[in-house]
Amino acid sequence: MLKGKTIAIIGAGNMGSALIRALIARNEIQKEQIMAADAKHEKLEKLKAECGVQIARENGEAVSPADVVILAVKPQDMGEVLDEIAMVMDRTKLVVSIAAGVSTRRIEEHLPQGVRVIRVMPNTPALVGQGIAALCAGSHATGEDMAAARRIFDAVGKSCVLSEDLIDAVTGLSGSGPAYVFMFIEALCDAGVLVGLPRDAALMLSVQTVLGAAHLMTEMNMHPAQLREMVTSPGGTTIAGLRKMEEWGFRAAVLNAVEAATARSRELGW
Ligand SMILES: NC(=O)c1ccc[n+]([C@@H]2O[C@H](COP(=O)([O-])OP(=O)(O)OC[C@H]3O[C@@H](n4cnc5c(N)ncnc54)[C@H](OP(=O)(O)O)[C@@H]3O)[C@@H](O)[C@H]2O)c1
Repeated sequence: MLKGKTIAIIGAGNMGSALIRALIARNEIQKEQIMAADAKHEKLEKLKAECGVQIARENGEAVSPADVVILAVKPQDMGEVLDEIAMVMDRTKLVVSIAAGVSTRRIEEHLPQGVRVIRVMPNTPALVGQGIAALCAGSHATGEDMAAARRIFDAVGKSCVLSEDLIDAVTGLSGSGPAYVFMFIEALCDAGVLVGLPRDAALMLSVQTVLGAAHLMTEMNMHPAQLREMVTSPGGTTIAGLRKMEEWGFRAAVLNAVEAATARSRELGW
């Protein structure tokens, strides 16, 4: 689905360069078929030396020959980039934007009539090939466009398709989610220190517990409640701990966090 296509990546920062590396590593596309553009030319030279991709002096130069244009700049730079590339855009090209909070309608308004747009909300574990991305289609994107866009994000983790009115909720859950998990790991580590563990051992135990629990769940394909019940024996240690988590509002804290982040995403969007 990507084979034979030419991809332009505008913004070779964290996300843009992770996508480039993954697409090449997964053999989704030949390195010669990727052209990257970025505000900083040194960044591009480094990427070219590392991955062998083509680099452009200007955004328009990358977009002109491309079948797929990935917009991976910060949301505040999107207006400028869209204005710059509008001249060389047409409806033969698919635009894939990962800019948080920028709607497909806004992107379509900046570009020629009928342009095909897909908006994506990825998350940082994409940088190590373990991301989850939610994709939604603009008004002209086709099923084939969506399939091509999913291949790009499946190269750095997993993907799902949702309607655009749910993208703020995705931002509040999986977009901000890694930060919630990091805070949980930190808290678990501090708790380990509280009960007498050396800090380095507490951190290792905490990280591996989270990683192992997530793997167990996906590999056994079981609901988390089932797995929790499996490790909670009557009158045992785990139920004593879980009772305190309920008493101190762990579940409510998570619900409030996702709700607040979703609301903030709505406020910031344009
Ligand atoms: N990181 C995440 O977990 C995550 C999650 C969800 C969505 N996103 C979205 O992904 C996008 C990229 O995030 P990121 O973390 O990869 O950002 P980043 O590392 O800052 O990368 C953006 C790159 O675009 C360059 N740039 C700025 N203005 C430009 C222009 N006019 N033309 C071409 N390139 C330009 C920047 O150069 P300078 O450094 O010189 O400005 C930078 O190299 C953002 O819109 C963000 O909302 C990221």
